[in-house]
Formats: sequence, C-alpha cells, structure tokens
Amino acid sequence: MRRTPVLFAVALVVFGTAAVMAQQNAPAPTGPIPAGLPEWAYTPPVPGAPPPPSALPTDDNAVVSIPGTTKTFTRGQLRAQKETMDWYPEDRRGGPVPNLVRFGKEGVRQCTLCHLPDGSGRPENAPISSYSPTYFMQQMQDFRNGLRKSADPRKANTNVMIGFAKAMTPEEDRIAAEYFAQQPYPRRMKVVESKTAPKVRMQGGMHMAIPASEGGGMEPIKADEVVEVPDDNLRAEARDTRLTWTAYVPPGTLNRGKQVAAKAQCATCHGANLEGIGPVPPLAGRSPSYTMRQLFDFKTGARRGPWGELMRPVVANLSVQELMAVAAYAASIQSPTAAQPTTTSAAR
Ligand code: HEC
Ligand code: HEC
Repeated sequence: MRRTPVLFAVALVVFGTAAVMAQQNAPAPTGPIPAGLPEWAYTPPVPGAPPPPSALPTDDNAVVSIPGTTKTFTRGQLRAQKETMDWYPEDRRGGPVPNLVRFGKEGVRQCTLCHLPDGSGRPENAPISSYSPTYFMQQMQDFRNGLRKSADPRKANTNVMIGFAKAMTPEEDRIAAEYFAQQPYPRRMKVVESKTAPKVRMQGGMHMAIPASEGGGMEPIKADEVVEVPDDNLRAEARDTRLTWTAYVPPGTLNRGKQVAAKAQCATCHGANLEGIGPVPPLAGRSPSYTMRQLFDFKTGARRGPWGELMRPVVANLSVQELMAVAAYAASIQSPTAAQPTTTSAAR
C-alpha cells in the first residue's frame, strides 16, 4: 500500500498516542519533521546562514597549540581528512588504536573524526566510549537494519553513520566496540541552572558560544531548552579530548528531571547513578543534546531496535518537556570513569 505524505504527516502529529508506536513495522519517518521536535537538540542547518568564522587560524601551515600540552599541530594536520590528530595519545587504553578506528576503510571514515579519539563524541554525534560491546554491536546492527534513524530527516550525519554501518561487517563492529569499551568516558559536563545562556551559532554541526568580540554575550534562556556549548571554541575545533563543556538549563530543570527519573524508574535499568548496567547504556554525564535526541527518536519510533522495546513505554508516558528535564538531570550526574570489560560472549 502506498502512503501519501499527508497521511504520514497526520500520523506523525499523533505520535504521542499509542497509534504509531504500535505499528512496529511502519517505516520510520523519512520526510516530514515530527511535531514537537526539540530543535535545540537536533541543531538542523540554518538555510542560507554564512559559514561562521573559525577559531582556528586561516593558514594550513599555521601552528596550533592548546593549553595543557606542549604538543602542537598545524591547522592543515588538524583538518586532515584521513586521520584525526590526537593531542593526548597517552590517555588511550588497550594497546594500539585499531586501523579501522584510526583510518577507516573504503566507504567508512575514521571513527575518531566525529566521535574523537577517546570516543567521548560531540553533541551532534554520539558518545561511544565505555559502552558494553554487546550494546555497541547491537546499535551497529540496528543502523544496518533500518531500525535506527533520526526523527529529523535533516540530520544528515546520522544518515552518514547508517551508511558506515552498512559498509561494515559484524567482525569490524566488534573490533571498534572492544576498542571503545576500554576507553574511559572522560567528559566533564557541567550543567548550570541559569536564567541566561550564551548566544550561540552553529559551527561544525553544533552550537558554540559567539565570542564577545563578535557580538556574543548572554541572553535569556528559552523555556524547555538546553544550551550546550564547549568551554573553548578553539579547543573544540581542534578536537581536544580534555575539553570541558557547559549545558545551561532554566532554573528548576534539574529537580524536575530528578522527579521524572524517579517516576519513570530509569535507575531500575540504567543503574542507581545512571551509570549503565551491562548492556543497558550509561547516561550519566553524557551530552544532554544527544540524550534528548535519543529519547525523542524512541518516542517517534525512528529508533526502534529490539532492545528499544524496553524504552517504548517509558517515553510514551513522558512529555517532550519531561524528556528535556530528565536529559539535563542525567547529564548533571558525575560520570563514573570506569571502562567496560570487553567480553562479548553475550552478543554472540
Ligand atoms: C561523520 C561522522 C561520524 C563518523 C566518522 C562515525 N560516526 Fe558513529 N555516529 C555518528 C552520528 C551522527 C551518530 C548518531 C547520532 C544521532 O542520531 O543522534 C553516531 C552514532 C554511533 C553509535 C551509536 C552510539 C550510541 O550511544 O548508541 C555507534 C556505536 C557508532 N556511531 C559507532 C561508530 C563507529 C564504530 C565508527 C567508525 C567506524 C563511527 N561511528 C564513525 C557520526 C559518525
Ligand atoms: C525497562 C528498562 C528501562 C527503563 C525503565 C529505562 N530504560 Fe533507557 N534504555 C533501556 C535499554 C534496554 C536501552 C537500549 C535500547 C536500544 O538498544 O536501542 C535504553 C536506552 C536508552 C537511551 C539511549 C542511550 C544511547 O546511548 O543511545 C537513553 C537516552 C535512555 N535509555 C534514557 C532513559 C531514561 C531517561 C529513562 C527514564 C526516564 C530510561 N531510559 C528508562 C532500558 C530502560
């Protein structure tokens, strides 16, 4: 049967009801933008916006240094397409970085380009360190099988990720999963309740604070929004894995999020401190923009892998406002730094 776009749009508008959720075999949304989509979390491109000025020098031969290390790279090295420069290789665990992770292969970019050399990721992609390999491999399988997409059809990088998964074999998934499982999740995410947040602009697919010298400053924060920014634009553009981040949320958000977590019993599956239990992924200290997208993707059915069944009733009963609060609350919990053991027997 053919579905017209209009029917599809109507179906999406009522996604909050059980109707669409119940249609397990319905195609994930590909065209229309679902009602209620939290744009702050999906950071869709702004049509016609000029490319923002970069904090990096303009000359490829210019030497870039960052605070905290004597190491330097040229701008050309930092922007190289084949290999991602690592400011702190001494922080990596578990022996040499596998070639696939470091260089990619035909049809697959190096994982470190987007997820960074430690897998801590950036708000517009995903944190992938210290997950159980079982969970990690399941996600690759779900991308491959069309069970994990973005609710926002404009989110091009998720489609790119799906393409990589399709070009990879389960054995390659395992190599990447085991490497990233051994990397501690280091992100120092600070969540601040505030009536104001920095003015931001899009840079490389994510929000960055506009520097004061370019008309930046604070502005009133919108209700039900998180403003998540790196604490230093140059270090973010240089892919510094020791960089800290700040998420600004309206006053009262964290307490509301804590109540939502209690009501929905997130801890039963995700652990008392949302640190993850076995294959159920950790949420503590991770990017609230990423967490929000996943919750909304579950809610619309764009993400509906076999284990997503457990999330389906959770998100069905929560409003987008509640999801935002719980995403901010989870991000505010100090993330435990332990990496996962790498046994994958459960996945085989
Ligand atoms: C071009 C950028 C890019 C590259 C390169 C990339 N990814 Fe991703 N990855 C993404 C995006 C974007 C997402 C999903 C974010 C979303 O939809 O919210 C993602 C998600 C994931 C997830 C799911 C994480 C979770 O928490 O469930 C895994 C696992 C993953 N990637 C593994 C890899 C591996 C392995 C490689 C290298 C072979 C790789 N990625 C390379 C952009 C990238
Ligand atoms: C009944 C068990 C259960 C409960 C309760 C539960 N979750 Fe989950 N959650 C899971 C499982 C299992 C997955 C993995 C789903 C998959 O593989 O797609 C998951 C995945 C997630 C993800 C995606 C993580 C990632 O890295 O992509 C987020 C975010 C999440 N849960 C948040 C929450 C929040 C917030 C709550 C409470 C409001 C909650 N969950 C309650 C079982 C649960």
